[in-house]
Amino acid sequence: MKTNLIGSVGLSKLLIIPKEPEEKFDQILKNSKNGIYLGSSSIMSKPFFLDFENLINPHIFVVGMTGSGKTFMVKNLMLKLFGCLNSTIFLLDFTGEYSSFANFINAKNFSKVSFKNSSEKNENSIFYLNLEKLDEKQKIITATQNISFLVEIMRSRKIGSKNKFFIIIDEAWKVLDEHSEINTLIREGRKYSVGVILSSQIIEDVDQKILSNFASLFVFRTQNMKTLEKLKINYQIPLDYVEKIQNLNVGNCIAIMVYNSDKRGIFEINKIIGVNIAKKINLSMGNNMIEIKKDKIEKLIHKVSKDDPSNLILKLEMNNTIDLNVLILELLKLNADRLELLSGLLGLGLDHNKIADSFAIALNGVTYVI
Ligand SMILES: Nc1ncnc2c1ncn2[C@@H]1O[C@H](COP(=O)(O)OP(=O)(O)OP(=O)(O)O)[C@@H](O)[C@H]1O
Ligand SMILES: [Mg+2]
Repeated sequence: MKTNLIGSVGLSKLLIIPKEPEEKFDQILKNSKNGIYLGSSSIMSKPFFLDFENLINPHIFVVGMTGSGKTFMVKNLMLKLFGCLNSTIFLLDFTGEYSSFANFINAKNFSKVSFKNSSEKNENSIFYLNLEKLDEKQKIITATQNISFLVEIMRSRKIGSKNKFFIIIDEAWKVLDEHSEINTLIREGRKYSVGVILSSQIIEDVDQKILSNFASLFVFRTQNMKTLEKLKINYQIPLDYVEKIQNLNVGNCIAIMVYNSDKRGIFEINKIIGVNIAKKINLSMGNNMIEIKKDKIEKLIHKVSKDDPSNLILKLEMNNTIDLNVLILELLKLNADRLELLSGLLGLGLDHNKIADSFAIALNGVTYVI
């Protein structure tokens, strides 16, 4: 029998695929048992839970290009692990990207003493270690020392402890060679209820053996071919998902789960649900004023400043408005790299002419046309 293709295309347009109504949030929470709700999956908008009971280990890898939504996810994961699972969290920050968030949630500054005090009192807390001010070499040395200390802490925990302890490292590749003690945390973590959460823009440098030890992988948009190739091989991701990964919107991701039964699940999460506690600031440019997320400007400041930007960050925290001329001038005083600053400001979506004018004023009236 001949199939009438044109007819079937027409017919398919008339077919209505049933879409289950989205569940109410309180219902979702009631059903979650030990799981953490992250967002709705693209399959009939079913809620997606990260449920450690069913996974072969508590380790999580988050990967994606810049601006794809990794930090948003990690921040919210952190809040939910702390709030819903009574976990203790240790956050290691190489760039200072989390400093205002850590400040906002009142995270404790991490030290051996603060950690011991809190565990003696049986408190679950969020600890924060900011390495932003150290030079690259010193960052690695300090991170390595603290990771060794975390191995000690892990081994002193009761086996099978109910309350989990999570170690979060953003831009993890800096400490991710095969000799790093992170491997010990990953290998032994499950036994001691210790989970390692790593996040990175690319994973091409990550050792294959390390990567295969993560039961949960969240892939945000990336077009880095080597990263995609590695994901394809390591997690046997179907080709249509490899395509999808390259075109995901901000906050959307593909979740790959390895369950206790060694079965795998692959899901598309429509949008990671969480609170965006980024405050906004008014950026004034002549007579114009635009609203911009403070965390975006802070990130730019951290990125471009060669000198310690703490005072400028503080100024930003205390004010609701900053003038673009002042911002540029302050950043040039901090020896900001001009090219990085210029491209960062363009990346914020500001008007080209306004940026040029402000640069001109900051650079003593020399006019540059972009
Ligand atoms: N699920 C989401 N819902 C709402 N806003 C989001 C979501 N994910 C990301 N965003 C917003 O998008 C912007 C970029 O996200 P984010 O900072 O998490 O990117 P990133 O992947 O960490 O980038 P980078 O690698 O440069 O650090 C932020 O302003 C963030 O608030
Ligand atoms: Mg980030």
